[in-house]
Amino acid sequence: MHRRADAVAAALGEGGDVAFVRAPGRVNLIGEHTDYNGGWVLPLALDLDCLVGFRRRADGQVRVVSLDAPAEIAPWTDALLVELAAEGREPAGIDAAVASTVPMGAGLASSGALSVALGLALCRVSGLELAAVVLAEACRRAEERATGVPCGVMDQIAGVLGRPREPLLVDCRDISVERVALPGDAVVVVADSGIRRSLADGRYAERRAACESAAARLRITSLREATVADVADDPVARHVVTENERVLRMAAALRSGDVEAAGALLTEGHRSLREDFAVSTPELDALVERMLALGAYGARLTGAGFGGCVVALGGPGLAERVSGDPAVVCVQ
Ligand code: GLA
Repeated sequence: MHRRADAVAAALGEGGDVAFVRAPGRVNLIGEHTDYNGGWVLPLALDLDCLVGFRRRADGQVRVVSLDAPAEIAPWTDALLVELAAEGREPAGIDAAVASTVPMGAGLASSGALSVALGLALCRVSGLELAAVVLAEACRRAEERATGVPCGVMDQIAGVLGRPREPLLVDCRDISVERVALPGDAVVVVADSGIRRSLADGRYAERRAACESAAARLRITSLREATVADVADDPVARHVVTENERVLRMAAALRSGDVEAAGALLTEGHRSLREDFAVSTPELDALVERMLALGAYGARLTGAGFGGCVVALGGPGLAERVSGDPAVVCVQ
């Protein structure tokens, strides 16, 4: 961490004190493809994060560099400048350098962490303090502007408000947030299939459009309002409706300390993502099975799918049992 901060400060060169802001990546415990349907999500902040070092520039210029590859950061900066100006940010010069430990394309919200950390730095340097939800929404719009992906707001909310071991139950209809503590004996494991994906390839937007047409057919504003009976014949919409129920059941299971029941919901959620929403891959399916064979109470793909990571939940012994597994990225 110190080394990374030193490298970030070194990238800025001479010129006075450097301030730092950070935003975490997240693993979504459950609630996949529900955020843009007005539903519920339950993301958990990771120890992996995006760090931004910055200081004000007197000449008004905006200079941002990235220490990560690919280092192309200009579209993000430009998009954030537009969206933050819409929230009242006055122009202010900045020198900033970005370094992230969140793996890209792994379903752990590396883009969300980047947009929030850089957004915070841009706000800080111009003296703007935005409410958490307003900042998250501006960062979400900036991300859509920079990448063309019509993402939901889950990753940016987790980036602004997330803390390790405190999953956030977010109701995406009004973006209200409740912290749900993980039971003390619960172990969360994130394991990487190694398959990288880009949401800009259109498959994410395709799923979102299918959900919106289903809602339009039912004459409702979002699938949040649909019942299981309404969507019995539409697997994509059925995933969303049953997933919303699973999020609420998961929050209840965690509150009551029933880690086994919470785990079972993960495996149920994976089946729904694989069979109904069709965003799993053979590698993700195999990794879910491996986590179950290692004694997890449940596991599922996390994030948008098409590759990336799985999340597994288990009891105290799980950390040790997965410790030799090369796919494991983090345990908390
Ligand atoms: C990506 C998007 C999120 C969410 C998930 C799927 O991470 O950025 O808004 O839609 O996919 O749950």
